[in-house]
Amino acid sequence: KKTDSQMLIIFGASGDLTARKLIPALFNLYIAEQLPDNFVVLGASRSNLSDEEFRGKVVYDSTYLKEKIKELDKKQVEDFANKLFYEDLGDDYASDYEGLSKRIETLNDSHDTEHNYMFYLSTPPSIVETVAKNLSEYNLNDESKGFKRLIVEKPFGYNLETAKNLNNGLQQYFKEPQIYRIDHYLGKETVQNLLVTRFSNSIFEPLWNRNYIHHVEITNAESVGVEKRGGYYDKSGALRDMFQNHLLQIVSLVVMEPPIGDQPEEIRNEKVKALKSLRVMRDEQTLFNNTIRAQYVSSEIDGEKVKGYREEDGVDPNSTTETYAAIKFFVDNWRWHGVPFYVRTAKRMPTKVTEVIIHFKTPHHQIFQDSGVNSKDNKLIIRIQPDEGILVKFGVKVPGQGFKVERANLDFYYSSLAQTYVMEAYERLLLDAMQGDATLYARADEVEAAWEFVDPILDYWKNGKDVRMYGYAAGVWGPENADELIDDLGFWRNPGKN
Ligand code: BG6
Repeated sequence: KKTDSQMLIIFGASGDLTARKLIPALFNLYIAEQLPDNFVVLGASRSNLSDEEFRGKVVYDSTYLKEKIKELDKKQVEDFANKLFYEDLGDDYASDYEGLSKRIETLNDSHDTEHNYMFYLSTPPSIVETVAKNLSEYNLNDESKGFKRLIVEKPFGYNLETAKNLNNGLQQYFKEPQIYRIDHYLGKETVQNLLVTRFSNSIFEPLWNRNYIHHVEITNAESVGVEKRGGYYDKSGALRDMFQNHLLQIVSLVVMEPPIGDQPEEIRNEKVKALKSLRVMRDEQTLFNNTIRAQYVSSEIDGEKVKGYREEDGVDPNSTTETYAAIKFFVDNWRWHGVPFYVRTAKRMPTKVTEVIIHFKTPHHQIFQDSGVNSKDNKLIIRIQPDEGILVKFGVKVPGQGFKVERANLDFYYSSLAQTYVMEAYERLLLDAMQGDATLYARADEVEAAWEFVDPILDYWKNGKDVRMYGYAAGVWGPENADELIDDLGFWRNPGKN
């Protein structure tokens, strides 16, 4: 695909995301010769920086590029850095758009970016709409000369109502096809591969339904705590931070019907349909039985004392924000009727891992003696990260007399593919947006459908009676009570164990 000449204008450019993800992603695209010849980045933010200071911050002195830069010749690094510029936006992102629009015009003329502008909003959510409004006042949404695209970072809203307001607000100034809502999980190869696993293999899809699948389990675990983001996280929590977006995106790809083709709208239509078929839990008893939340408490990991969540900087000492969330739910449609889904996400787990486990039903008539515990079913384990790959667990005969069955592994690792360069999520997503491909971006109705499911849980956790909040020692697999959620099996699959 062709990438047109263009300018990327990053709002919030002095923030962490720009230095940690965006600039490194652009740098990799530059090295891979994927950037167009005429390409400019204009960082805009509230800090007062010169172009040179900005280049120093995000390129020359960046901890994220340090290693890479060492391997390259100076000229190349300089050539990349010279594509970056900076504009001070004043205190409130609302004032100096006159200056900004003039700067954009000047850079467009000097670098021939053909009036193609992509605005990346890495700002607090409360000002996203203001930025869009201001851009429209200076006609920076007008596509009569060149494209104008808006990439919006998460969190996209705080609940269903605010997400709807944000969608309506943005759509006053930009048309839906101009709006790209980013969810970096969709940029992960293994997440996209869910579609390929399902729809390009005739050995899985015929079994992908209630007749053969017993339940679906999704685990997203991080070993880190809230790091330096206590202030943000305490207002968010695991459900908003990970579940509403990243995990429901994964769910939608597992649940969806086959799209008629691979075009953005064809895929997104099916994802929306999938999200709309999640059974929304409304009454307190259902919410009590099917949701679990918890917070990590201080503990020792490898001999080092680790803070509990409530002791973290920026976190209210009486906080009821969850760092662990486990949800059981059903999908009300023909394919999935009666199949439970178990999804959990948490900080301060023993390891960092994300995986999807399809548990198939045990054969209805058991002829052979099975040797192991928890090994009667076939499992398809899709390792999203790390050790990206796919594992199939199936029964084999234990050598020797009789017919004893044991589970064996068919294991595929992405790293064993000949072509091993896997683009980082932000690299892939930025390039897609630069080329106008929105397949891996969330559409307005998709985001709203996800909130529709999450809203009552949030509301129950906030206002419900008898809502439990468990604690778990930092570094373990969450509260033991979460095992009770998994009906007849009685425990989660903790990666590396069963
Ligand atoms: C972000 C969350 O969206 O995803 C973070 O805000 C989380 O809290 C991160 O750590 C996890 O992303 P990844 O790609 O490391 O799994």
